Amino acid sequence: MQDGRTTLTQFIIEEQRHVAGATGDFTGLLNDVATACKVISNAVSKGALIGVLGSAGEENVQGEVQKKLDIISNDVMIKSNEWAGHLAGMASEEMEDIYPIAGTNVRGKYLLVFDPLDGSSNIDVNITVGTIFSILRSPNPGVDATLEDFLQPGSQQVCAGFALYGPSTLLIITTGHGVNGFTLDREVGEFILTHPDMRIPEDTQEFAINASNERFWEWPVKRYVDECMAGKIGPRGKDFNMRWIASMVAEAYRILTRGGVFMYPKDTKDPSKPGRLRLLYEANPVGFIIEQAGGKCTTGLQRMLDVQPTSLHQRVPLIFGSKNEVERIERYHTELR
Ligand code: AHG
Ligand code: MN
Ligand code: MN
Ligand code: MN
Repeated sequence: MQDGRTTLTQFIIEEQRHVAGATGDFTGLLNDVATACKVISNAVSKGALIGVLGSAGEENVQGEVQKKLDIISNDVMIKSNEWAGHLAGMASEEMEDIYPIAGTNVRGKYLLVFDPLDGSSNIDVNITVGTIFSILRSPNPGVDATLEDFLQPGSQQVCAGFALYGPSTLLIITTGHGVNGFTLDREVGEFILTHPDMRIPEDTQEFAINASNERFWEWPVKRYVDECMAGKIGPRGKDFNMRWIASMVAEAYRILTRGGVFMYPKDTKDPSKPGRLRLLYEANPVGFIIEQAGGKCTTGLQRMLDVQPTSLHQRVPLIFGSKNEVERIERYHTELR
């Protein structure tokens, strides 16, 4: 680009050289995802002006009442990605089953899994939300994907990213060679590289957890949070700050920029659920990004990217952030054994 700025397109072409076996397919796919994020950003920013706030009145497979923008964002991701021939199938938080590539559309070699709108309980109160996506290789390129094709551990991801619809619209991506952040320049409609090679500080004094669930936490998490709350006079000997935005992508971006720890642990609130967040389209893509920026992502007992998925909407305990703090929480979990 003339003014010396690097656009996402230029960056992807460079990155594609790192992605084994990637052809123009990968560039095209990532561009189509970025286009979808621009369209979603536009709808989110217009909000009440175009009547997209509020609930759609339907319940999704998660048992959540869907927001209108959950459905709109899901449709945008589908329409932007189903036609170009890069994909063998898609899956989303908002769809119970996998989404086959329709009709005469060519089947490609990638699988796209996404959370079209993360933090959507915040949309009506104008707090930052985002879109999370994960790209896997289809085990059977060129033919319709099956549900089993999606059940790959996070270590198999080719690319992961999230868009952040906040004061700025950002796109944070990794293809396994570090993490890079782009800011949408609305005047030219391009994502511009503004945060090259993002790194998470290994230490932090800031943690994020929904403290209203304290009575349901397991001992290792309770011990860790109690020590943080005890501050300087406690065993940690330093004061901590707490944040909880209820948009995991916003917490992830804060942690990418200044360190921190995010915890949505397994709790006894609903024994049928091993945590609230979903493995395939929340924990794995964010975990890939966090690890690539020098942080750690775990269930407390296992590296997130090693977890073998058993179902599309599987939930996991999710802990990620600054390496030394996440390792401390892991130690507390193993001491539990
Ligand atoms: P989603 O909006 O995609 O369903 O995800 C919301 C998730 C995550 O973004 C956030 O950290 C968490 O739910 C908030 O949970 P609580 O409302 O229980 O705090
Ligand atoms: Mn939801
Ligand atoms: Mn989500
Ligand atoms: Mn969602």
